[in-house]
Amino acid sequence: MDGNGRWAQKRGLQRLLGHREGYRTLKKVLLAASDMGIGCLTAYGFSVENWRRPEAEVGGLMTLIEEAAKAELRDLKKNNVRCRVSGRLGEVPERTRNALQAMAVETASNTGIVFNLAINYGGRAEIVDAVKALVRGGVPEEEVTEELISRHMYSPDIPDPDLMIRTAGEMRWSNFLLWESAYTELYVTEKTWPEFDAQELQKAVDSFQSRTRKFGGVV
Ligand code: FPP
Repeated sequence: MDGNGRWAQKRGLQRLLGHREGYRTLKKVLLAASDMGIGCLTAYGFSVENWRRPEAEVGGLMTLIEEAAKAELRDLKKNNVRCRVSGRLGEVPERTRNALQAMAVETASNTGIVFNLAINYGGRAEIVDAVKALVRGGVPEEEVTEELISRHMYSPDIPDPDLMIRTAGEMRWSNFLLWESAYTELYVTEKTWPEFDAQELQKAVDSFQSRTRKFGGVV
């Protein structure tokens, strides 16, 4: 959800107001994705690197995420959204962690779009955690396969993403879903995240649908 800070700064506002606007965008885009029949939407809410930001921004983001998880619970249930959280939640402040866990537990039996929120998430950290789990389990070398590693990722039941959208013109992975995005189609837009909307999502999906995916093979 890149460009919240730039969106705010361009308007002479504090960066946190950009994140607040980003939250409003996230809600609209999630409901639009659900209406479009998309099965799963993962949003990068906070990375393992984001702790390096000024204390006030980190604290503000944690409070915003907590407030959002509580405030949206009713609407998430009403819209049949099933919420998940990916990341090292143990290192997240307790109040934020509790709100996120409640959101996941209370929507677990919903059957609509899966909304996966990546919080204190890092692609490399996820791979490290999977390898640690394998070592802990004493898995013999010959049993280590791509399939087994996939099963030890944070959300093994969620399929690899078909499409990754980057806003604010960013042209890099930024440690997001490194393992899962081996064959993900990339879509980059100059719009900042607060400027993104249902119409922009449709453009990204149209672009995705015009592509031929070969997964290393031939058509
Ligand atoms: C990246 O933009 C955005 C973030 C690190 C935070 C994303 C969080 C939200 C949208 C808050 C709402 C989240 C939930 C789950 C309710 P940036 O700050 O790097 O922007 P910049 O590149 O313009 O500085």
